[in-house]
Amino acid sequence: MKTKKSIHLMWSGVLFLTLILMSCSAPKSEPSPSLKEAFEGKFLIGTALNANHYYGRDTLGIKLIRQHFNSIVAENCMKSMYLQPAEGVFFFDEADQFIRFGEENNMHIVGHTLIWHSQAPDWFFTDEKGKDVSREVMIERMRNHIHTVVGRYKGRVDGWDVVNEAILDDGSWRNTKFYEIIGEDYIKLAFQFAHEADPDAELHYNDYAMSQEGKRNSVVKMVKKLQEEGVKIDGIGMQGHMGMDYPDINEFEKSIQAFAALGVKVMITEMDITLLPFPAGETAEVSLTAAYQEQMNPYAAGLPEEVEAAFNKRYTDFFRLFLKHQDKISRVTLWGLTDNDSWRNDWPIPGRTDYPLLFDRNYQPKPVVAQLIDLTKE
Ligand code: GLA
Repeated sequence: MKTKKSIHLMWSGVLFLTLILMSCSAPKSEPSPSLKEAFEGKFLIGTALNANHYYGRDTLGIKLIRQHFNSIVAENCMKSMYLQPAEGVFFFDEADQFIRFGEENNMHIVGHTLIWHSQAPDWFFTDEKGKDVSREVMIERMRNHIHTVVGRYKGRVDGWDVVNEAILDDGSWRNTKFYEIIGEDYIKLAFQFAHEADPDAELHYNDYAMSQEGKRNSVVKMVKKLQEEGVKIDGIGMQGHMGMDYPDINEFEKSIQAFAALGVKVMITEMDITLLPFPAGETAEVSLTAAYQEQMNPYAAGLPEEVEAAFNKRYTDFFRLFLKHQDKISRVTLWGLTDNDSWRNDWPIPGRTDYPLLFDRNYQPKPVVAQLIDLTKE
């Protein structure tokens, strides 16, 4: 028995050593860098988190976020309707988790967004009779919201999207309740309140369709005015919700240049590229015939190769542009992690199958990820 056992032990030892030697001599494949490693020293690479990420439920997603990204923003939980659902009643549980996730993983943290007409609670603008509040009350509510939220995370949030979407594509003011009740000064006040609450945080103006000439010119004018008035503004966020034929890349470049010329940082804050057609006119009550449904949701069963190739080219064209202007761009943030998470599947028609992001529905990096990484070696 004893000898049998020692022979067995000896053979196990030989096998073990052989395995070790084999593994040492096996050719090692080059470890491919992650997105954040590839873009290190150029700009931050960010993503938008949902509750499954910061509550730790989406373990596969969390792994990818840690591997590839060094900046995060909350997709929803820091919008005013969630943070202050009723006057003076703040709900910070989710935002606290989000911030904790960022700190534990040593990430650059973006607060999104303080003043935005959408996803804002109705009470913000009205009195108990449902009538619009006075200018003074509105300003006081803005001050209280911004001071409370920014104050809570003082020193922990790197940058705030202070105002979101104040200007229309043609360059005119968006007629929000903030604008209607306070006038254009609401922008200046929002930035001042945020600065008072955390003097060290970066403060940004964020908007979509920033490649539109009218919007570009008005944003430049607005930021110049803030600067002349001595208001601190550090960055301009270009949302980057794109499609295959908009925005025009040359117009987008003009905006990067125009914004950078103001001496502020430029950020691509909410990038995704939809592959789905935009419905003409009707959205919610779309009386969807089967044929129309199919036409509006063409890739439910999968993405044809040529469409994916065009998608890859579109992403790489834009990232090449971002690299060209890396001296002006401080961060590029994707609006979500996997295609499954994206808001694009449900807007403006719910329940479609879109492919706007860099990771597929099985948490695999799409081929475009390697292509983006290769761009950094050019
Ligand atoms: C805007 C907002 C984002 C998000 C997207 C769509 O771009 O800034 O927070 O809501 O719309 O989801």
